[in-house]
Amino acid sequence: MAVVVRRGGAQDVRFLRDMLHHAYYWKERQPDAGPGPVQLYVKAWGRPGDTAVIALLDGFPVGAAWYRLFTGEPFGYGFVDENTPELAVAVVPNARGLGVGSALMRGLLERAKDDGYTALSLAVDRHNEGAIGLYRQFGFGQVTEAPDSLTLRLELT
Ligand SMILES: CC(C)(COP(=O)(O)OP(=O)(O)OC[C@H]1O[C@@H](n2cnc3c(N)ncnc32)[C@H](O)[C@@H]1OP(=O)(O)O)[C@@H](O)C(=O)NCCC(=O)NCCS
Repeated sequence: MAVVVRRGGAQDVRFLRDMLHHAYYWKERQPDAGPGPVQLYVKAWGRPGDTAVIALLDGFPVGAAWYRLFTGEPFGYGFVDENTPELAVAVVPNARGLGVGSALMRGLLERAKDDGYTALSLAVDRHNEGAIGLYRQFGFGQVTEAPDSLTLRLELT
């Protein structure tokens, strides 16, 4: 099975929202409980800096990785500074462990470098070993920690 990674666009917002749910479902908040992750990372998609890649397996979308720059409040959970976009990645459960997450990361890091960014950051649940393993494999290192989560950062060279 060949994984194809293509650029995401405005037509992919619904899929990104679904993927974000996979990435953060244990933190999903009620609509009246303040800005939840969907609001923060997908709402009004198409802001300057918003960048996504979509993975296709046998032609079907099975995962996405994307980043968004936060230049004012509300900031993302993994905010480090206003020049560093925050990355998120998720693969549908039945396509995990096949290299799709790695292919997405490669595609998105390439985009970030092409777009002139010098670093990326993210927040991850400290118990999310699969994601932490993936991020560490790509060179992300820890910058801060909270009781439930870690903030990781990658220098792009
Ligand atoms: C994290 C995630 C994107 C990885 O995608 P994937 O397609 O399964 O990843 P890959 O098959 O490319 O694996 C790449 C590396 O990730 C790590 N990894 C993936 N699943 C893992 C697991 N269950 N336990 C430990 N490490 C894991 C390993 O380092 C692996 O490298 P290896 O195969 O050489 O051991 C996927 O598990 C997922 O969607 N999880 C739910 C969403 C999520 O938590 N997103 C992150 C929110 S911050």
